[in-house]
Amino acid sequence: MWWHSERMDDADFWNERYERTAPADRSWTEVWPVATLASLDALGCMPDDSLIDVGGGSGLLVDALIEREWRDLCVLDLAGTALSQARARLGVRGDEVSWRTGDVRTVDLARTFTVWHDRAVLHFLTAPQDIAQYFAQLDRTVAPGGAAVIEVFGPTGPTQCSGLDVRQWATEDLIAAFGPAWETVRATTVDHVTPSGAVQAFSTVALRRIIRENA
Ligand SMILES: C[S@@+](CC[C@H](N)C(=O)[O-])C[C@H]1O[C@@H](n2cnc3c(N)ncnc32)[C@H](O)[C@@H]1O
Repeated sequence: MWWHSERMDDADFWNERYERTAPADRSWTEVWPVATLASLDALGCMPDDSLIDVGGGSGLLVDALIEREWRDLCVLDLAGTALSQARARLGVRGDEVSWRTGDVRTVDLARTFTVWHDRAVLHFLTAPQDIAQYFAQLDRTVAPGGAAVIEVFGPTGPTQCSGLDVRQWATEDLIAAFGPAWETVRATTVDHVTPSGAVQAFSTVALRRIIRENA
């Protein structure tokens, strides 16, 4: 049973989670990021886009995009251990990736990206001020014309992950959180089958930030 002590900060919690488990022990592990790639395709994203995978952990999206010859990739995570595991897996193929340790709410990225991706991170932010900080970071990071893909637990999904409470998001609530400057390209639900065979319902949205003429 995983627990979150009052004394353990979030980075320590997640580092320990990655240190003590193998990919097959983690509920969020995917065989391949099929649903994410489908959303990126629906948005018309191409290898010359730049992408930040927030809370990317040791997930395989970066592998899939390197395979598709994307060149400008950043994986951000609180847990340096997760990033080290991904780097070790990729070897020299990961040398061009920007690996950033930090909190999505507060990290100073000092640049923009054309695509923002989040799978199973936003749902850990349950306080309104944390969610506001998250979307403020997203707005600073993705300029008009850019895109975002978010995949989080849906209304019938889990209420906890790794012993932490999560917020369940309906696709329409995700879309509303983006606001009127974004247009929805895809909104769907996806069943993720965990390595132990449980089914988790995710809400997935893909949006593009509107370019307003004379703005
Ligand atoms: C459930 S895992 C998902 C990992 C990855 N996105 C995937 O689908 O394989 C959640 C990840 O979010 C990271 N994380 C949690 N809170 C974060 C925060 N505030 N800022 C950045 N990363 C965070 C954790 O370290 C962990 O790697």
